[in-house]
Amino acid sequence: MKILAIETSCDESGLAILKCSGTIKNPEIKLLKSVVASQIKIHAPWGGVVPNLAKREHVKNLPVLFHELFPKVSVEIGGTESRPKFKFSDLRGKNKLPIDEIAVTVGPGLEPALWMGITFAKDLSKASGIPLKGANHLEGHLFSFLLTQKKGSKTKKEDGKIFPAVALIASGGHTVLLKLDKIDKWKRVGETRDDAAGEAYDKVARLLDLPYPGGPNLEKLALTGDPLVINFPRPMLNPSTNSGTGGNFDFSFSGLKTAVLYYMRDHKSDEPEFKSNVAASFQQAVIDVLVGKTIRAAKEIGAKSVILSGGVAANKSLRESLGKAAKSYGCRYLVPPWEYNTDNAAMVGVAAYLAKLRRKSYPLRANGSLEI
Ligand code: KG4
Ligand code: ZN
Repeated sequence: MKILAIETSCDESGLAILKCSGTIKNPEIKLLKSVVASQIKIHAPWGGVVPNLAKREHVKNLPVLFHELFPKVSVEIGGTESRPKFKFSDLRGKNKLPIDEIAVTVGPGLEPALWMGITFAKDLSKASGIPLKGANHLEGHLFSFLLTQKKGSKTKKEDGKIFPAVALIASGGHTVLLKLDKIDKWKRVGETRDDAAGEAYDKVARLLDLPYPGGPNLEKLALTGDPLVINFPRPMLNPSTNSGTGGNFDFSFSGLKTAVLYYMRDHKSDEPEFKSNVAASFQQAVIDVLVGKTIRAAKEIGAKSVILSGGVAANKSLRESLGKAAKSYGCRYLVPPWEYNTDNAAMVGVAAYLAKLRRKSYPLRANGSLEI
């Protein structure tokens, strides 16, 4: 079946077409096309994502992206700002789109932004008669490793060597550690108690006067610094320091951010290497925690593989460090191609197909705090 996937949960508008086949044990995903419109320029002056601006940009971007995928179809925007209406040229009979299902992210994310994707998807479904399904953004990140490097090539199959697995999703809104017994059976074993890893990157980037988006800019600055100069705390890395029950694999990044704030206040310096050393040392602390906890979880459950995803997984040092650690423990290491770590619709298509195989459905309304 061919799926048209739509993603608008935060500041990236994305559309993708995927050809999906196979069973839950052996899903085969062929990505035919994926387009993303980034809103970096719009949000940069504000230093972060402004939900109402994101919403307005999605309304503008979606018809443009759709036209890239289907040049013969025209889309007009009408209605009001709170309830835009997308009017498509004739999509029936000989003009029928070569698509079997539409899938749209319904959560988690910024609700005003999510609603725009859902509205677009509903209007398209009505105009074309193609069924519409909701998809979970976090399942998209989780299963993004099923996307391959080359567009058009098929996925690696689930070949019995992947599970049990440990999966780390590290994004701007989430830091979650999951244990997967099978592709359709997982359990959350840890999550952040305060800031997500990407959020910590973004906040520390602001302390360093780096422009939005913080994560990639901080990574760039860290390349010029020494990660061993400043010994920032590694929050909750050591199991003995974890308090409470069931929190063994939880994370906490807000204390680390505060430690950076105090360090910068107490060691003010105009030396050019000051900020790069702070960036590199902060990044090292985050990576030590993420890698340390993920590998400890992998050992505890006897994982055959370690899966990494989410925007922070676009960080080269994290990708490499976790890969090395997983391999030295004898685990397979599964990460999506670089461009599918940050938000995109290709991963939403994968999530939608797997949800269909699991007979799981999500209501077609925005749910900002939808869980995995
Ligand atoms: O998955 P994503 O695109 O959106 C959410 O679902 O949240 O993740 C965005 C987050 C942002 O916090 C961004 O700063 C971070 O991922 N990020 C990075 C890098 N690229 C994006 N963090 C560290 N290094 C990067 N290269
Ligand atoms: Zn995301």
